[in-house]
Amino acid sequence: QFTPRVFSGIQPSGDLHLGNYLGALKRFADAQDKGVQSIYCMVDLHAITMPQKPEDLKRSTRELCAGFIASGIDPQKSILINQSQVPEHAQLAWVFNCVARMGWMGRMTQWKDKSGKNAEAASLGLFAYPALMAADILIYHATHVPVGEDQKQHLELTRDIAAKFNHDYGVDFFPITEPVIEGAATRVMSLRDGSKKMSKSDPSDASRINLTDNADIIAKKFRKAKTDPDALPSEVEGLNNRPEARNLVNIYAGLNDQSVEEVLREVGGQQFGAFKPLLADLAVAKLAPISTEMARLMDDPAEIDRILAHGAGQAREITAPILKKTYEIVGM
Ligand code: ADP
Ligand code: NA
Repeated sequence: QFTPRVFSGIQPSGDLHLGNYLGALKRFADAQDKGVQSIYCMVDLHAITMPQKPEDLKRSTRELCAGFIASGIDPQKSILINQSQVPEHAQLAWVFNCVARMGWMGRMTQWKDKSGKNAEAASLGLFAYPALMAADILIYHATHVPVGEDQKQHLELTRDIAAKFNHDYGVDFFPITEPVIEGAATRVMSLRDGSKKMSKSDPSDASRINLTDNADIIAKKFRKAKTDPDALPSEVEGLNNRPEARNLVNIYAGLNDQSVEEVLREVGGQQFGAFKPLLADLAVAKLAPISTEMARLMDDPAEIDRILAHGAGQAREITAPILKKTYEIVGM
């Protein structure tokens, strides 16, 4: 009985990268004309779960908004918001903090990774992060959440929270949201280590392709990408146990809207010496216009702020009634 609605968020905590583009931004833009109402969020409340600098956060939030628009998300067609400007996210998150169980949170791999060896010193917000994420989604009664593979576990937790709320209060109020993890590049790996995810939160990874990189830098990073000495296979099975090769082929497929099978049919048998320049050219063709457009948008921060303020107004027409009803259900 829930109307289809899409929600997804990205943290304004450092540079947007190729993984964010292929796992999230590009897919948002591709889905935009399907006629489903979509809300895309800069999750600044999530960004402060880790140490951060106030002056960087403001800039990163605007730059992220520029990244959304430069990637093809049209603020006339989708709602673009900054999380802290729509207070119902944090208000619903408190209710969900009282629904979610400590044990559920403790099992989250992102919590384990980010809290590291000294979990006692991690912020309470980092621990509660997935309950806020559930609130981000469910405050819109969103039915579909396009994300990369790394967010799968958090999406499962979102479903658990919705189900427990519905069960505890004997209602059918929150939808059981579907993660949408699609395409050839749902998990882009680091170009220097095929076993690690390309991530904003790894500042030491100089191989990361950032959406703000210019054409020369993009090409150079692909030239230096780690590979193995073998030629590319013509069948997918030939990528088994070759994480770096698989990653580069996935990236090519994602950028070119092809399946991995299609790519291998074209490039199977090639050495990396030949494939890397092809990949670099493709990446430059797709990404350089985005960095140019981001820079242009960043020249007018007031316009970005206007877009986000407008989006917040649109969002609150959805979130205010859902929060009100939630409070009624809980007895408040
Ligand atoms: P990061 O993990 O870089 O800090 P976020 O957690 O803000 O980025 O994630 C924003 C979106 O980008 C999410 O949908 C996430 O699944 C996706 N994403 C992040 N890293 C990757 C990656 N390496 N490959 C594919 N998608 C990714
Ligand atoms: Na992530």
